[in-house]
Amino acid sequence: MARVDLTNAKRAKKDEFYTRLDDIAKELKYYKPYFRGKVVFCNCDDPYESNFFKFFALNFNSFGLKKLIVTCYNGSPIAGNELEIPFDVPDDEPKNIAYKLEITEVNDYNGDGAVNLTDVQYLIQNDKNVLSQLHGNGDFRSSECIELLKESDIVVTNPPFSLFREYVAQLVHYQKHFLIIGNTNSLACKEIFGLFQKDLIRTGHTNFNVGMYFYVPDSFEKFHHIEDGKKIARVSTSCWYTNLPVSRHNEDIILYKTYTPEEYPKYDNYDAINVDSYRNIPCDYYGIMGVPITFLDKFNPNQFELLGSTQRGCHELVPDTRKYDDYWECKPNGEKTGSSGGKTNENGNLLKNDGVHNYFENAEGRQIQSAYSRIFIRRKR
Ligand SMILES: C[S@@+](CC[C@H](N)C(=O)[O-])C[C@H]1O[C@@H](n2cnc3c(N)ncnc32)[C@H](O)[C@@H]1O
Repeated sequence: MARVDLTNAKRAKKDEFYTRLDDIAKELKYYKPYFRGKVVFCNCDDPYESNFFKFFALNFNSFGLKKLIVTCYNGSPIAGNELEIPFDVPDDEPKNIAYKLEITEVNDYNGDGAVNLTDVQYLIQNDKNVLSQLHGNGDFRSSECIELLKESDIVVTNPPFSLFREYVAQLVHYQKHFLIIGNTNSLACKEIFGLFQKDLIRTGHTNFNVGMYFYVPDSFEKFHHIEDGKKIARVSTSCWYTNLPVSRHNEDIILYKTYTPEEYPKYDNYDAINVDSYRNIPCDYYGIMGVPITFLDKFNPNQFELLGSTQRGCHELVPDTRKYDDYWECKPNGEKTGSSGGKTNENGNLLKNDGVHNYFENAEGRQIQSAYSRIFIRRKR
């Protein structure tokens, strides 16, 4: 396979993580009041496969939705597999279609007194609900999907991981409310971090540190367990992102530790102290601090300001003051790894060698070690 095909295949594979109904319900229960009278758009979702669609169809009335719009992408490996599609599709391309479903009324069609999963099958028999083929491929960036986005109030889905930044940029551009799943690694990337700085995005309610489980296609060899006959994989770096209110982000982190230069050393290359956990932020320090990215899950913009991160291109306000191109990397036993110290430029580096992790050394025997990815913050009050 050519290199570019391989890259595309890898990227598509990363995008094939399908969200469990339980996880959607667990997060969505906190936002019910914000959905009343609103148009919800799930724009990366095959209605007969997506649990986002199922969740909103099932809760259409209890959430008081005005309309639910779902669009499906024709590149999806499962699109068209489960649904009998009521329009002509060439025999040799049964899956190669994209369609949209617009729901404005959900009734208890089978008369069992409850709106249950079975009723979803009947939704399209209601004249007020329309299933139609899209002109294009259902790409969230296509003009017809953008028209649907403009019509909607809140976008809720798990978008393709590989297009996350572009996906969020589009939501912000069209000033839409959103509640979406993404990778925690995106937190510190320039575009997403910039939104945190402007308080245009925050993490959701679900515990940020435990990761999430997703359905994956049968073809996946690596998976965690089987649930309802389907393969489930764990993604330890998943979390919810939203611009809807999340109470935790209005609460102050309780600070109780006292600053000492020994416990909170300054970085070798930044004018900031290192704090290893948000729990250890000293209550009596008002200068710049470097904290782990998990801080963002507790971040209250009234308590702290976000100045930057150690990610390249992300710390104009806290410039690095030293480069390590004339250092070399060593294993804990002193053996050289063959890498130059340039690889730790712009990390938060500390003048130390703990004897456990790799370190960097120069010709004068100066030794430094890098902390994990850090975010620079300062107290507001
Ligand atoms: C991570 S999966 C999640 C699917 C579903 N939202 C869920 O949570 O179960 C991302 C989905 O986005 C689809 N997708 C990939 N690229 C897309 C694009 N450019 N526009 C819209 N959907 C896309 C994929 O086919 C896949 O179904």
